[in-house]
Amino acid sequence: MSNPWSRWLAANDTHRYQLSRKAGWDAFVNGSPRPDFAVLTLEEMAGLSDAELEDYNAARDVWNTNPPTVRTHQLDAAYRIIEEVMASNHRDSDKLRGSVVIDAEPSLGKTTIATRYAQRFHRTTYRRYGPTTADGHQRLPVAFIPLTAGITLKGLNQKLLEFYQHPAARRGSRTELTSLAIDCVTSCETRLIVIDDLHFIDFAHRNGTEVSNHLKGLANELPVTFIYVGVGLREKQFFDEGMLGEATSYAQTSRRATRCPVVPFRIDNDAGMRAWVMLLTTLERHYKLAAARPGMLTDHARLLHTRTQGRIGSLANILDRACYRAILDGVECINADLLSAVSVDNAALQASIA
Ligand SMILES: Nc1ncnc2c1ncn2[C@@H]1O[C@H](COP(=O)(O)OP(=O)(O)OP(=O)(O)O)[C@@H](O)[C@H]1O
Ligand SMILES: [Mg+2]
Repeated sequence: MSNPWSRWLAANDTHRYQLSRKAGWDAFVNGSPRPDFAVLTLEEMAGLSDAELEDYNAARDVWNTNPPTVRTHQLDAAYRIIEEVMASNHRDSDKLRGSVVIDAEPSLGKTTIATRYAQRFHRTTYRRYGPTTADGHQRLPVAFIPLTAGITLKGLNQKLLEFYQHPAARRGSRTELTSLAIDCVTSCETRLIVIDDLHFIDFAHRNGTEVSNHLKGLANELPVTFIYVGVGLREKQFFDEGMLGEATSYAQTSRRATRCPVVPFRIDNDAGMRAWVMLLTTLERHYKLAAARPGMLTDHARLLHTRTQGRIGSLANILDRACYRAILDGVECINADLLSAVSVDNAALQASIA
């Protein structure tokens, strides 16, 4: 039998769209936030049937694990750099545009920054120019291309074509795929291409050099700004294009790309602690727990920082689990015992016991 929460779940369960396909990207860009629902008191929960309680808890799991994107200072700082580089996006097509490289350690919110920025850019472009290009093609202001291990030049072109859901994505020679990819980007008037997980390219290897040269080629040819996202790209010689010593001065990437670092939260100074507490305050308000209270997270700011080293991805993991346990155990609030007891991801665990 249906109840308010099973109906809510039917319409708002976990989104399973694939950002790497135009349909999935479109669903992400245009999706509206989940509608809110009331938190029940413990007495109200006691009055539910087993099935109702199960559905209410399942709805809360979906809600709790999808907090809003918080405007952290890392996000703001990254947006400022991206906006500056995007200003050159207005250059006429005969002039080269710069690119942004979001280069940082794992779990710091790199992908979130790139996708949220691109989402906003997509919406603005649509509002201004409409959904169709002057030539009657579907307008796709953004392409989002996540890479996989050992990506080759052909693989990169295939991924681009897959985003546009081009039927030839799986066929065609290397050169054909390149020209098809260029056609797609041009006819859909794509202006921003986000390439995620760029660290999968080994810039010191022939395949990697080919891919990186190809990206440079595309940047030359297309009126597009690229946002590259990856872990440890400087160390992986992305900027030096895998060259060593003096040869690095020939690396054009280094001149064309603007590096955008993303740092973990630090609490060893007042401003850092304030920013961390602000993040926790925002998140704290989100969770649907019967005994939730203001201060439920901020009272444990230091403990949370030790357990996560100020990494927003590790924080998201630990809070997901704490909420789940708070519901399962019936505590209905996040407290220090829960935060100490739930598991964290492996990297956060290693760092917190080091
Ligand atoms: N600004 C934010 N507000 C709220 N939650 C965030 C924010 N940024 C990141 N997160 C949370 O942290 C998680 C990890 O973020 P994200 O995937 O963007 O990190 P990443 O640096 O790309 O990680 P990886 O190195 O694994 O690719 C997200 O799934 C989300 O839950
Ligand atoms: Mg990522």
